[in-house]
Amino acid sequence: MQRLYLLVLVIASAWLAAACAQRDGAGPDATIEAPPQARQAVDLPAPDMEGFIPLETAIASRRSVRSYGPEALSDAELGQLCWSAQGITEEGGRFRAAPSAGALYPLEVYVATDQALYRYSPEDHALGLVRGEDVRLDLQAAALGQEHVGQAPAVFIMTGVVSRLEVKYGDRSWQYMLLEAGHAAQNLLLQATTLELGACPVGAFEDDGLAGILGLDDGEAPLYLITVGTLG
Ligand SMILES: Cc1cc2nc3c(=O)[nH]c(=O)nc-3n(C[C@H](O)[C@H](O)[C@H](O)COP(=O)(O)O)c2cc1C
Repeated sequence: MQRLYLLVLVIASAWLAAACAQRDGAGPDATIEAPPQARQAVDLPAPDMEGFIPLETAIASRRSVRSYGPEALSDAELGQLCWSAQGITEEGGRFRAAPSAGALYPLEVYVATDQALYRYSPEDHALGLVRGEDVRLDLQAAALGQEHVGQAPAVFIMTGVVSRLEVKYGDRSWQYMLLEAGHAAQNLLLQATTLELGACPVGAFEDDGLAGILGLDDGEAPLYLITVGTLG
């Protein structure tokens, strides 16, 4: 009798432990999904190399769009847009989608979504977490209150590290860096057009405000914002 009692007790304890583990999400069949949160790193899908829209059509149809649908961009779309701006396009090498004076590559690309602020790594074709929160309304404030900056599902931010150019180009380095930002931004705008997304370049912003949001040190300057989203 005592043995039977002990057996029932052991089975009951095991059942209770399993039930608790499942409730806490620790069990093997846990079905409760964690709330969406910033990912530490996002491995982006390999970029598509065969779009369907001819370059001439993209050039002819590109327009600055300042109103977007609420849908988040997919990882494939984020990846394609980052790649168009600064992706590595040389097989096994280091040359990138946009030209660079002396191939010194002073530009960095960040993207702010409803989840987080990320920095693009061309070498890994991946996003690394910078801030695990939605900074788009802060970006809107730094961009003199422009509403489409806060509303865009993705805000790309281009920055530049001028010292990478100064080693070779001295006083002309800032000029070259701005020219490069223009090349990269135009690539991104045309790529957005081919993905049938709306996009708008934004140059009106407070430098210090933007640098503070991105946590930039003195050597890295904010250069350009590009808002992107589905056509609303
Ligand atoms: C350097 C630069 C800065 C710009 N800054 C802003 C901006 O701060 N806000 C904005 O809504 N549009 C901005 N634009 C977009 C222009 O307003 C837009 O390109 C212009 O009206 C021509 O229209 P389109 O781009 O549709 O051809 C900027 C464009 C450039 C090239």
